[in-house]
Amino acid sequence: MTLLTRTHYSAAASLIGCALLLHGASANANAAEARKLDLANDKAYEHVVKPILAATCTGCHGAKKDKGKIRLHNPEAIREADVIIEGLSADSEFSNRILLPADDEDVMPPEGKKQLTEEQKKLLNWWIDQGADFEKTVAELEAPEEIKVILTAVTVGGGVPEAPEIDLPPAASQAALDAISSSGVLIMQLAQDNTFLTANTVNVAKTFDDAGVKALIPVATQLAWLDVSKTQITDAGLADIAQLPNLTRLHLEKTAITDAGIPHIAKLGKLEYLNLYGTKVSDAGIAQLKELTNLKKLFVWQTGVTDKGAADLQSALPDCEINMGWKEPAKEPEQAATDEKVGLYPQLIAICKKDGCCGKAHAEGKKCDHGCCVKAFAANEVCLKCNPDSKDALAKLKESLKQ
Ligand code: HEC
Repeated sequence: MTLLTRTHYSAAASLIGCALLLHGASANANAAEARKLDLANDKAYEHVVKPILAATCTGCHGAKKDKGKIRLHNPEAIREADVIIEGLSADSEFSNRILLPADDEDVMPPEGKKQLTEEQKKLLNWWIDQGADFEKTVAELEAPEEIKVILTAVTVGGGVPEAPEIDLPPAASQAALDAISSSGVLIMQLAQDNTFLTANTVNVAKTFDDAGVKALIPVATQLAWLDVSKTQITDAGLADIAQLPNLTRLHLEKTAITDAGIPHIAKLGKLEYLNLYGTKVSDAGIAQLKELTNLKKLFVWQTGVTDKGAADLQSALPDCEINMGWKEPAKEPEQAATDEKVGLYPQLIAICKKDGCCGKAHAEGKKCDHGCCVKAFAANEVCLKCNPDSKDALAKLKESLKQ
């Protein structure tokens, strides 16, 4: 069997930067990872608690290890661990351990390991106090205002994002906070010992407009996260958002903003996350974001942005993950997105039998784990035992890559 060398397809690979996700299930999986918690339908354990435990606990208390003789990777294991008293975080060993001071020798996770954020601790204890239920949705549990705000910032799959690691600003004045809260905007510190603020307009989206943005200026130094998605703001309001120098996350999805407003956004040099989903922004708009070198995630689903515009920005911002949402896999295998890590997989899966083992796994966002198929993909081949009809297509693909 012929092995394809890197040079045969490196030209295709370098066209599209490594983080740009355009096609197929990987983009789909990623879109799922990045979406916001659905407060009405997502489950408290499955979508909020489990991801936190997976990120910070199950490496030691999971399927592979049972440090302290407990496992926390699924409901059965958690019940068996017997460290949670339903409805009573104060009496639960689980909560006692996570609330210990960082330098206490019994604190969980242990010192030096990936720690829980203050928000994550609050979410875990809230879930326990609400009965540590494994089935209920977030909406079925009672949540105090503080928890609601934390929940609005949860992205499914990623748990609560880390607070930015920069020098903390002086605390915002209580009067300024009260004025903003009284307008219905949810505003609070990112964490108890963190003076940065997060503001969310979810409760007043129908009436929040450019004047509302102006009202945030008194806390300009402190505001790190701002969610004005689905509000009535326009390009003019972005001029005031540009005066929030410490913004790291900005949600503008489903607003009326256009390319004309993007030069204002381009001034937010600390921006790490920008969501433009469902706006009129196009290639000309995102081309102006090239100086935002801290940008790690950009969402442009259902906008005027094209693959080419995204690829252009990607070459200026190689570390940024530009999420175009899910699209039909390209008909021409040569056009499928590929990169150093996935090799020819996108092209290969496109010619696999749709209802065969590889095709089915792919449709579920997975990669077939049969030994024969894993080996074939690794060698830039398709397993012809499982995909006997792909023989000709495979030969054609190889031929096209040689040119
Ligand atoms: C680096 C490994 C490690 C990580 C990560 C870790 N633990 Fe532990 N955990 C241990 C060890 C070792 C013990 C046993 C020693 C002890 O009790 O302190 C333990 C004990 C415990 C106990 C006491 C069990 C009992 O019955 O007495 C609880 C509760 C606990 N861990 C919860 C957690 C939670 C919750 C997390 C995540 C937020 C976590 N742990 C993360 C290593 C870890």
